[in-house]
Amino acid sequence: MATQLIFDKGLANTVAAETSLSFIDGEKGVLEYVGIEIDALARQSTFEETTFLLWNRRLPSQDELSSFERDLRKEYELPSGMIDMVRKIPRSAPPMHALRTLISALSFFDLEADVNTPAANARKAMRLVARTPGLIAAFDRHRKGKPIILADARFGIAEDFLRMLNGTEPTVAMARAFDVCLILHADHGLNASTFAARVTISTLSDMYSAMTSAVGTLKGPLHGGANEGVMHMLEEIGTMDRVDGWVQERIGQKDKIMGFGHRIYKSYDPRATYLKTFSQKIASDTGNTRLYEMSRRIEEIMHEAVAAKGIYPNVDFYSATTYASLGLDIDLFTCLFAMSRMSGWTGHCIEQLEGNRLIRPHAEYKGPHGVKYLPISQR
Ligand code: SDX
Repeated sequence: MATQLIFDKGLANTVAAETSLSFIDGEKGVLEYVGIEIDALARQSTFEETTFLLWNRRLPSQDELSSFERDLRKEYELPSGMIDMVRKIPRSAPPMHALRTLISALSFFDLEADVNTPAANARKAMRLVARTPGLIAAFDRHRKGKPIILADARFGIAEDFLRMLNGTEPTVAMARAFDVCLILHADHGLNASTFAARVTISTLSDMYSAMTSAVGTLKGPLHGGANEGVMHMLEEIGTMDRVDGWVQERIGQKDKIMGFGHRIYKSYDPRATYLKTFSQKIASDTGNTRLYEMSRRIEEIMHEAVAAKGIYPNVDFYSATTYASLGLDIDLFTCLFAMSRMSGWTGHCIEQLEGNRLIRPHAEYKGPHGVKYLPISQR
């Protein structure tokens, strides 16, 4: 008997994988990594510990965490050929274009690039999470004509990234704030870029190809690119007195407001809840409250207009102002998302291979049949 095929546009109502990495309850606004609520992890964990959790599906002991951190830091160092490659990228290249190329190029320097065993993929996952921050920082320094600063194994990922990027060691508060952002962005069910990674690895292609697919997918403004879109919106509005008019006009035009809405959350994204508090604290600590105040007003207007439709702030809405308050360039925001999600993407690839089946859905053919081939002289 022929299988019943259902066309589900955008796969909005389709379960395409089973996972133990993260759980989302869109109605209640719940996000858990391996059963642990995101708020508990944001308050008490680190990006390194969260990465261990996602890859091993349990929290580490102190000894395990210490050796995991050591193993990650051993992989910080970029092959020299990668630094040469960074320097060949046009300074005008958008950072996500640069990152897509650099992640792909990492495979040239990995002898295990095409080895698809669990052990080799675990080592490649380490290298990818350990090296992505250095690649982003190196490209940013290169494009600004500044000397590239190499990673330093004395520091954790969040702290070392800010040091490599800015040339100075961050404050404890800034390093912690960024570490929490990395925790919050690490995994999120079968979002588009994770799906892209799983499709790629399901063909038994390699981890670097899967990560390249994921980076290219995250770049889109409907997905990871939204955090940059939020900042461009705030810049275009400019001042608090222009917020109401600008937002009401776009709601009237049925434009999508960046940083709002979600395929799964029909309530407040718990990451946005956390980032909003963060953004407010950093704003008050730095005295630079304009962006946060504007964001809050946008949220109030959107709540009145569309909350009834289940449209609330998502992770990107307040990550934008948090990153801006940390002095990070707008066009790096999606790279920061990728740096974090590298842990989730690689975790999903490892999980996909544990019970792999080629991911290959159907397409419903809408074209003609029985068309005659006319020789070109008769066309
Ligand atoms: C991320 O999937 C994940 O998990 C992603 C992510 C992760 O961690 O990986 O959470 C990260 O990508 C967050 C989302 C970031 N994107 C944005 O902020 C871009 C703006 N948001 C929208 O483009 C939209 O909300 C999506 C793409 C996020 C979700 O779109 P859907 O599920 O396809 O919903 P839809 O576009 O069909 O919209 C349904 C209705 C429409 O109204 P009607 O035509 O039914 O009247 O809601 C409206 C839309 O117009 N709507 C919005 C809106 N988002 C949806 N209206 C105004 N502003 C918005 N942002």
